[in-house]
Amino acid sequence: MKILIATEKPFAKIAIDGIRKIVESSGHELHLLEKYTDVSQLISAVADADALVVRSDKVTKQVIDAAEKLKIVVRAGAGFDNLDLDACTGKNIVAMNTPGQNSNAVAELVLGLMIFMNRNKFNAGTGKELKGKKLGIHAYGNVGRLVARIAKGFDMQILAFDPFVKKETIQADGITAVDNVEDLYSNCDYVSLHIPANNETKKSINYKLLNLMPQGGCLINTARKEVIDEDDLIKLLENRTDMKYVTDVAPSNIAELQQKFDARIFATAKKTGAETAEANINAGLAAANQIVNFFKNGDTTFQLNK
Ligand code: 3PG
Repeated sequence: MKILIATEKPFAKIAIDGIRKIVESSGHELHLLEKYTDVSQLISAVADADALVVRSDKVTKQVIDAAEKLKIVVRAGAGFDNLDLDACTGKNIVAMNTPGQNSNAVAELVLGLMIFMNRNKFNAGTGKELKGKKLGIHAYGNVGRLVARIAKGFDMQILAFDPFVKKETIQADGITAVDNVEDLYSNCDYVSLHIPANNETKKSINYKLLNLMPQGGCLINTARKEVIDEDDLIKLLENRTDMKYVTDVAPSNIAELQQKFDARIFATAKKTGAETAEANINAGLAAANQIVNFFKNGDTTFQLNK
């Protein structure tokens, strides 16, 4: 079988070496398409691939339609808003992600970004400590859980909201589970976003919600830019000169934000949450193993389009 890894943002070499071992020792062929700059390159590479591994690369209907032999596509990572699941289902292609494999890398970055903003982006001036402050975890999935665990080490008070996780599960981790999203934002000095981008969540982080945050509030976004109402974010930072926004997924209006509120906003140059050797290895090897097991014994664990 031809297994294609198509990554506009490539895996670390050590991860590719591991993936190659898994793929070739099972009798498959590994093909790489890295740092491609145009979707036409992905379309021609996928034409005769039996399996496809991507990161945030967009697997659209156009890509799926071009894939004559494709049987499985694995998003090496958590968020699968880049996969057209209906297109996959329409062609009987199994779509999977690798949940949890890069979560620790993202969670560590959250704490790093919080400290960076608390210390005036490492510029001169009096900063703040995390100790004793209230941190709101918006969605208690793999990343949210780890952020909470690490933040406990900083002696933060932690609250969480997730309509899909039982309150008892959250409370069992020693975290205050709040009843609604408004309670989370009203009560927290920091809110860390861990919601996926889908029809329900897009633009859901709006002025009304963010304006509930107490004086000096800071929003941390290592999730997806689409969940933010970007016009509202500008309005908020204009009206609330106390608030800060730090993100690993730069909004479309980043230039305007930087120009207007440079001291209170920060965006990484490119999404960097999963950019650790460990996360690349975990997610990359998991993707390779999932594909090998799918071909070997039809294993569809982590299938998204069931
Ligand atoms: C994910 O959803 O797994 C993260 O956002 C990481 O995405 P990346 O593989 O594009 O870095």
